[in-house]
Amino acid sequence: MAAHDEPFSLVIFGASGDLTRRKLMPALWSLYAGRTLPEPFAIVSTARTEMSDDDFRRRMREGVDEFARVKPPSAQVWDRFASALTYIPGDPTDPRLYAKVESALTRIEAERGGAANRLYYCATPPSLYDDIIGNLGAAGLARARPGGFTRIVVEKPFGHDYESAQALDRLLAGVFHEDQVYRIDHYLGKETVQNILVLRFANGIFEPLWNRNHVAEVQITVAESLGVETRGAYYEEAGALRDMMQNHLLQLLCLIAMEPPVSFEAGPVRDEKNKVMRAIRPIEPARVRDSALRGQYGPGFVEGKAVPGYRQEKGVAADSKTETYAALRLIVENWRWAGVPFYLRTGKRLKKRASEIAIRFQRTPHMIFQRDPAGVEANTLVIRIQPDEGMALTVAAKTPGPELTLSPVRLDFRYGEVFGGESPEAYERLLLDAIHGDATLYLRGDWVAQAWKLLTPVLEAWARDPAVPLSAYEAGSWGPTEADAFIARDGGSWRTP
Ligand code: NDP
Ligand code: BG6
Repeated sequence: MAAHDEPFSLVIFGASGDLTRRKLMPALWSLYAGRTLPEPFAIVSTARTEMSDDDFRRRMREGVDEFARVKPPSAQVWDRFASALTYIPGDPTDPRLYAKVESALTRIEAERGGAANRLYYCATPPSLYDDIIGNLGAAGLARARPGGFTRIVVEKPFGHDYESAQALDRLLAGVFHEDQVYRIDHYLGKETVQNILVLRFANGIFEPLWNRNHVAEVQITVAESLGVETRGAYYEEAGALRDMMQNHLLQLLCLIAMEPPVSFEAGPVRDEKNKVMRAIRPIEPARVRDSALRGQYGPGFVEGKAVPGYRQEKGVAADSKTETYAALRLIVENWRWAGVPFYLRTGKRLKKRASEIAIRFQRTPHMIFQRDPAGVEANTLVIRIQPDEGMALTVAAKTPGPELTLSPVRLDFRYGEVFGGESPEAYERLLLDAIHGDATLYLRGDWVAQAWKLLTPVLEAWARDPAVPLSAYEAGSWGPTEADAFIARDGGSWRTP
């Protein structure tokens, strides 16, 4: 592990894209402003778009102003940060780009002295990862320099399906050692997500209830009000299943369903998550429609503003079949969870941005207070991932007054109220971990493979079977109406976050 104050260089491929502007640079800036980014550092950014260093810095400043947790306090402080940013226009499929990157890194390292620590970041559409990894290897850029580290962060989705993920793993293994590879899922860096294991395993009261005897159902919702913005080209090759479900939502499911690891270290935590993936009942190809549902947004209104439909977005085919909404019904077949349905849903251009996990407990076996027990809500623990981070437990209480009537009340914990201020962004934590060589919150290749294996029948049915409906929904709604029927088959309904 490198000392925490060692110099390093970050090389971002795909630096003109949304991820760099919206997440990576704001996170790097916030770390810098909070004095937790090791110094001296250099950020060498590259993409095909022609830009000067100054153009790039201006663009990053806009991203930071809009998205960073910490806003630049003055032009001078920003300028100091920005002086570490350089931009090299070039095509990641062209080997000549890598010669330019190498000479930039060599120059920077010679000027600043100290160890040659390098972190490469694949922030392009996944279809380019092969080229980037192959070219880094061919240019000799994957080798660690004496006394320094060389690592690579690979963004999700890792591959396009099971075979391509395996091929990507083989390619990576031919160029990098496994301990140089950081497969990122930024949901694991969110404070609220890290807190799931603390909630479960640092509190005595939940674990005895955390099983099929007490839990009736789990719902995991990651709803976005955003559309595809400028990312039509990327999203067309991904869709909601690959973009969100295969990684973020399945990770959340694993954190809720996993057994207690023997310790809070990368190996044991990842082992337990893998066991959950292996326990999920496979989706039968002939019964995909029972387990999965897809939708695509049409025009509508989000937060009072008219927005176009998906097929009208830039970079999207006029007859696109890409899903912008996906729902799954999964069963974890083990002693703890047998028979408990896990419903997962995610979508773009939904009514509001809200990600939460709701654990609905069984009702009391016999209700003595009311003739109509259905009038009393089941206890539900809601973990709010974002926004308004926190958690709430719904319990029944007596409504004050002479009548014996019950009302659901919420025991509510809000991060903002208790801890004050804004929590660090997921990318702040994860970038720092990669720089420091801590892979605990990164994914292991076997988990990724298992996740693809699970979803393969769905991917195949959606790609090849024209009879599988692609349900339309209005932008600004809670998704296709068919999603209500999908969950109603088991007698349930989606929660409104
Ligand atoms: P964008 O489409 O916004 O950016 C992609 C980048 O790759 C651009 O810099 C683009 O620049 C370059 N690029 C696109 N097509 C090509 C091509 N054919 N050849 C060479 N370069 C190309 O995507 P995002 O930034 O949103 O996503 C990138 C990755 O990050 C994806 O894997 C995504 O899953 C992941 N991610 C994104 C998040 C987000 O919020 N945006 C969050 C978490 C992960 P240029 O055209 O200038 O070369
Ligand atoms: C990314 C997806 O992984 O996560 C995006 O590629 C999505 O499509 C984003 O918008 C959501 O992240 P967050 O942290 O804003 O919930």
